[in-house]
Amino acid sequence: MHESINTRKLAADAAVDHVKNGMTVGLGTGTTAYWAIQEIGRRVADGLQIRAVATSVQSENLAHELRIPIVPISSIDSFDITIDGADEIDDQLNVIKGGGGALLREKIIGAATKFYIIIADEKKYVTQLGAFPLPVEVVKFGWELVFYKLQSFGCTPVLRTLEEQPYLTDNDHYIIDCSFFHIPDPQQLHDQINRIPGVVENGLFLSMADLVILGKGNGSTEVLHKKSS
Ligand code: 5RP
Repeated sequence: MHESINTRKLAADAAVDHVKNGMTVGLGTGTTAYWAIQEIGRRVADGLQIRAVATSVQSENLAHELRIPIVPISSIDSFDITIDGADEIDDQLNVIKGGGGALLREKIIGAATKFYIIIADEKKYVTQLGAFPLPVEVVKFGWELVFYKLQSFGCTPVLRTLEEQPYLTDNDHYIIDCSFFHIPDPQQLHDQINRIPGVVENGLFLSMADLVILGKGNGSTEVLHKKSS
């Protein structure tokens, strides 16, 4: 019987090859980033010397378990490398993130990163973004007004819930998941959404990834580089 290939781990292990001694590392969130944190933990146990900040409480807890040195974000002015997952990726390496609810910390850390690697199963690679509902993090006060505004942009918004209560991010905000189905102009939508008062951030990560590593069902990886502008 065939053992199924762990495409997430394939991509994660390839990404961790870019982590070198002395680096300040951003740790992503989600089931793919989990494998990267595991591999970083294994290499730290073998002597790799790094310091890290996690993009979520969940990833920080995992890093502590693995004895990865975690430092306060206030002690960091930039990250040498960040490795994080994605929900959708297009051929411009634009990405939808936030399925795991950590988009705000992920974007703060990603934006301060010199070499930003996105890792994912090959199925996350799409011709156009939008089939995955775009997560929008909003403050609690007046979230209904933001919801109606998002609806007026042509999407079907849904307030994310957990156990029948509104889902709360690590920053004590709500998330509204917006099904647009097609996002032909990600930059325009990104700017339009972030101009709504009450929106904290949205899950469009545009022109941020330097490298995308896709894990493939045939056991290989595919590496996509940012096109130089
Ligand atoms: C969390 C994220 C995740 O990176 C994204 O949802 C992908 O998750 P997974 O690797 O579990 O498919 O953005 O906010």
